[in-house]
Amino acid sequence: MISRIDQDELKRRVALAAVDAVVPSLGTGAIIGVGTGSTTNHFIDALAKLKDRFEAAVSSSMASAERLAAHGVRIIDLNDAEAIAVYVDGADEVEPGGALIKGGGGAHTREKIVAAAAERFICIVDESKEVDTLGAFGVPVEVVPMARRSVADQLATAFGGKVRERPGFVTDNGNAILDMLGLAITKPVVFEGVINNFAGVVENGIFAANRPDLVLVGTPEGVREFAPPLR
Ligand code: A5P
Repeated sequence: MISRIDQDELKRRVALAAVDAVVPSLGTGAIIGVGTGSTTNHFIDALAKLKDRFEAAVSSSMASAERLAAHGVRIIDLNDAEAIAVYVDGADEVEPGGALIKGGGGAHTREKIVAAAAERFICIVDESKEVDTLGAFGVPVEVVPMARRSVADQLATAFGGKVRERPGFVTDNGNAILDMLGLAITKPVVFEGVINNFAGVVENGIFAANRPDLVLVGTPEGVREFAPPLR
């Protein structure tokens, strides 16, 4: 078990590796997509040092937008972005095929939107996020507030496990988060699609239909990388 300090250092190192991976995409007019979370915060801090080498960022959350703006990075709306060269974001779990659980910070809906709009998606994690099968972390599901109870009941009936509302949490979109706990997700593409069909679900935190093009993993021995197989 790595300590918190060690884990944060691994996050910092993998974020620096992500900046190196993004450098070829920089240049006049380049727009960079930026995720959310503690690993991405390291990426933001390092990317900001190169702010004169790209045009603007599209952010997946208000928190990341504030951090980018504090560094003097220009933020633009996704609808105003001609193209997003690359999107960089963390994850809560990653399995060997590159499918992810995201949304520990409740930002997965916007994250999935920006990731889908980007030409390239780079996922950055420390090694504690690697799993054989997705599920132990819990799957966040963003729901329209009036559907909290009905969706929770339907998800529990359909999949088993426990479904808990994240207390007092309101997403950037004004919605609630349900966390699906105690599942082992062996078919993430199917699972991702089925959950989004429940009325009232906005988006779930499985990223399987659209996976990262590159996963960077921070380990004490250095940053390892793998490219999930094309699907
Ligand atoms: C935010 O909603 C999440 O998807 C984060 O990207 C994810 O929880 C990883 O966060 P950390 O980098 O803080 O572990």
